[in-house]
Amino acid sequence: MSRASNIQLRQLALACLIGAALALLLLTVAGIGGWQRARQGLQEAQRIGALHGDMERLRLAVDYLTLLQPDPAVARGVAGDAERIGRTLAPIDHPTARVAAAHLREITHITAEIAEGRLPPGTSAQPRSPAPQNIARELHTHISVVSDGLHELSTGMQQQALATLRWLLLGLITLVVTLALLSLFAFALIHRRLVGPIRAIETGLDQFATGRLDARIAVQRDDELGRLAQAFNHMAERRELQENRLSESEQRLRLFATATTGSVFDVDLVNRTAWRDERFQQLTGYAADSVEATFDGWTSIAHPADQRRILDNLEAAISSGATYWEVRNRMRHADGRWHYMVSHALLVRDEHGQVVRMVGGTSDITDRLAMEERQNQGQRLEAIGQLTGGVAHDFNNLLTVILGTAELLGEKMDDDPDRRMLAGMIVNAAQRGASLTRHLLAFARKQALEPCVIDVNQLLAELEPLLRRTLGEHVELELTRGAGLWPALVDPAQLESAVLNLCLNARDAMPAGGRLTLETANTHLDQNYADANVEVRPGQYVLLAVSDTGVGIPPEQLVRVFEPFFTTKEKGKGTGLGLSMVFGFVKQSGGHIKLYSEPGQGTTVRMYLPRATGQAQAGALPPREVAIPRGAGEVILVVEDEPAVLHHAMEQLTLLGYQPIAANGGEAALAFLRERDDIALLFTDIVMPGMNGRELADAARLLRPSLRVLYSSGYTENAVVHHGRLDPGVRLLAKPYRRADLARRVYEALHQ
Ligand SMILES: Nc1ncnc2c1ncn2[C@@H]1O[C@H](COP(=O)(O)OP(=O)(O)OP(=O)(O)O)[C@@H](O)[C@H]1O
Ligand SMILES: [Mg+2]
Repeated sequence: MSRASNIQLRQLALACLIGAALALLLLTVAGIGGWQRARQGLQEAQRIGALHGDMERLRLAVDYLTLLQPDPAVARGVAGDAERIGRTLAPIDHPTARVAAAHLREITHITAEIAEGRLPPGTSAQPRSPAPQNIARELHTHISVVSDGLHELSTGMQQQALATLRWLLLGLITLVVTLALLSLFAFALIHRRLVGPIRAIETGLDQFATGRLDARIAVQRDDELGRLAQAFNHMAERRELQENRLSESEQRLRLFATATTGSVFDVDLVNRTAWRDERFQQLTGYAADSVEATFDGWTSIAHPADQRRILDNLEAAISSGATYWEVRNRMRHADGRWHYMVSHALLVRDEHGQVVRMVGGTSDITDRLAMEERQNQGQRLEAIGQLTGGVAHDFNNLLTVILGTAELLGEKMDDDPDRRMLAGMIVNAAQRGASLTRHLLAFARKQALEPCVIDVNQLLAELEPLLRRTLGEHVELELTRGAGLWPALVDPAQLESAVLNLCLNARDAMPAGGRLTLETANTHLDQNYADANVEVRPGQYVLLAVSDTGVGIPPEQLVRVFEPFFTTKEKGKGTGLGLSMVFGFVKQSGGHIKLYSEPGQGTTVRMYLPRATGQAQAGALPPREVAIPRGAGEVILVVEDEPAVLHHAMEQLTLLGYQPIAANGGEAALAFLRERDDIALLFTDIVMPGMNGRELADAARLLRPSLRVLYSSGYTENAVVHHGRLDPGVRLLAKPYRRADLARRVYEALHQ
């Protein structure tokens, strides 16, 4: 920055002003002075010019005196005039004036002498005679000298005045030119120092005004404009910073609003207004202007039964001095359905503790609640499953004994029909109990499944005649078999039983008749579906759906239908185990089951069965044998920790023609195996304290690699059944078993 540029504009303006004033003053003073002097000179010259006329009159008077007669009066007049002219010249300090004055004095003196008659020597004493020639000449000489002097004086003075005027004019012209140059200079200076920066400031302001907050003024100076530019730049910087902070916090707010899944709101309770974000529309389905943007507007779309509670709840929060308020309620969505919402808000209080504002958000928790409900239902079913599984296991042991003993009893009472009938009743009751426990085990996912690769379409085709017979005339059966259906990996017998169960439920739901549709299709459950449904693995499934046009299931019952013993059927008509079994079977098979129902419209149960990779086996269900095969004295080692069951099995095997040896645990059994080499079959329970059946069989095979093994179990834990499937080559007799089952299984084990 140059030194000159450090001059401040105010000083510059002041300097210009003082300069102009001084120039004006100088101009005025010099002008007036010069003018005065020139005027005076001219007046003086005029006056002297006038005296020149007087001198001509004097010359005439002298001529009269000298040529005609020396009249004393004329002489006195001439003397007086000459004296007056002399007085007039006296103040003029000029040699010519002084000379003229001296000559005038001479004229006065001579004419005064003439007036008094004292003529100079040689002159006539005749008063009426003219003055002698010498006097006349002397006077004329004086007059001529004075006249010439006056003329010279007057001309000189005039010239002096004119010279003054010339100088004055010259001075004025010089001054005007100088001033014009100075003005030009001042203009250039002002333009450089004012107009440029002002334009820069103007541009900066314009840019700023049109929203360019990064606009800055590049005026690098230390004067008023420089400071103005600096002040503007500061302001713009601050404004830009504020604006950035504002947009940052706005963006943060938007992110918060986006991060919260619902809609956010800000309710002004004093002015009864409210603000809410655009998510409101997404949340409720209503256009922003169709629901009044107030708290009342918001409550107006709440369920009528919830409205009072919302207000009471809010009032309670306010009066308890709480900072937060939360409420759950149903809200009518634009799609006409009731959605569950949760709203929570910060209660903002004024200095008197009055709540003046509520800031918070509302989220739709319908899906979450449904998910929780499903989870709860899943957990409930799981808990019931464990309980029933445990009970059924113990129960099976008892039933095995009861059944076997009753059968034995019946055979021993061959000759007493009444008692045999009683024994038969026990057998029947025990069989019903056995079927019940089997169902319970199925629900508890603890039945032994023998899954194989099957064609579900073929299975349905085989089942169709039975279904038609069972459903009766009034139910129309429709089978929609998906083309190119994948094979499924399930236990066919259990699948048949599941389909039958579902069809029976459908039939019961359509007492006045209706349509039952069985449908198969290939389907894929994706990750989203798996996330929303507990225990579902994403992947490919064979879908088997059973739909009816029956009475449907009310929502409050829907969550309970899979529970064992839940039935709406009258006593004796339904056990409430049908769906539980289907549920347990599908789950145990690694599939998924889903039930949709619309009261008054009908119900659909969808079973998703795991897709198998291999080829479906034809004739999946082995035909049941009728004859009871008998033994030929083979030695069978029976291992069972429950004494009653052990005893029963021994009796049954003896009756069937075998030689059973009893062992109450794994160690005892191994001891027998070491001692004897005639043991043909190891028949062992699976679940035993200490060494379990599987471990025993493994140890036994170390001693006798060719030993045949038959397991029995009330339920099948992981010992022989992995993921609900029997290990290859494993034979299992499920408890409780009838003698015929025992006979067949033992025979198979020995001979196949
Ligand atoms: N298709 C259906 N339509 C209407 N309600 C059904 C349907 N399927 C099941 N339900 C309801 O679910 C309840 C439980 O069914 P589930 O099959 O477990 O037992 P149940 O049919 O009552 O007895 P069970 O099958 O043991 O004879 C039924 O009592 C019925 O109220
Ligand atoms: Mg049923």
